[in-house]
Amino acid sequence: MPQKGNSGPFEFVDVTAQRQIDVAVRRHGIDTIYHLAAILSAVAEEKPHVAWNVNMGGLYRTLEVARANRCAVFVPSSIGAFGPSTPREETPQDTVQRPTTMYGVTKAAGELLCDYYHTRFEVDTRGVRYPGLISHVALPGGGTTDYAVEIFYEAIKHGHFTCYLKPDTRLDMMYMPDAVKAALDLMEADPDRLVHRNAFNVTAMNFTPEEAAEAIRRHLPEFRIEYKVDPVRQRIADSWPYSISDAAAREEWGWSPDYDLESMTEEMLRSLRRKLSVEEAGG
Ligand code: SER
Repeated sequence: MPQKGNSGPFEFVDVTAQRQIDVAVRRHGIDTIYHLAAILSAVAEEKPHVAWNVNMGGLYRTLEVARANRCAVFVPSSIGAFGPSTPREETPQDTVQRPTTMYGVTKAAGELLCDYYHTRFEVDTRGVRYPGLISHVALPGGGTTDYAVEIFYEAIKHGHFTCYLKPDTRLDMMYMPDAVKAALDLMEADPDRLVHRNAFNVTAMNFTPEEAAEAIRRHLPEFRIEYKVDPVRQRIADSWPYSISDAAAREEWGWSPDYDLESMTEEMLRSLRRKLSVEEAGG
């Protein structure tokens, strides 16, 4: 059913795309939408207008479909929703959010829009602020934390990695199985226990490129890292926290990660060795 407010200030919305999401939701009887699509921080700095349209337009369309079909919605925010005026250590759940990147602007605005849909339209919106995500399946996609994935591939393929962030750039990170667990656990949490909604700080570890290299060297002693700093991504990283506090997520829905740097490094190296040897063999 068409909703009031679909025109005017929201004319940037692609009605065809919204209809397609709506059809999929109805056809498959979907009750919860996990809206993961977004343009990440580094690409968003290259193409801020595209990032605004994709990140905000995509979210708006998803929320409208959720409103019409009474779906719950999971929307990931990010450590990018913080900025240089945010306390950088043990960043609290509720704190200053003045991001200085287009990615961060869309994430902070997205958190507000999700809260608005919850209070105004009773849509069950929930989200987390993810740190850098590390996976042996999903390839990095234009983010500032991508180095923490690339370093594992390069360690196995070439025994050597050139990092675009400075050696002491500390950022929060999480292994993908924990990221998936966070999304599922939050969506299954008892809503009566949720004081916050959009979006919970979650973290599993924080490290610097130098510390990641040391963790890899414990398995591959010959591994070497060098640095060629990319000023754009370094500036983005320098505007984000070193370590966020996930106390609210732990308290309100029992968040607890399974992987730290050691266990993730071991599993990443093992899984990538297998993946890359299969690829090499033409599998
Ligand atoms: N991993 C993201 C990025 O680097 C942050 O959420 O853009």
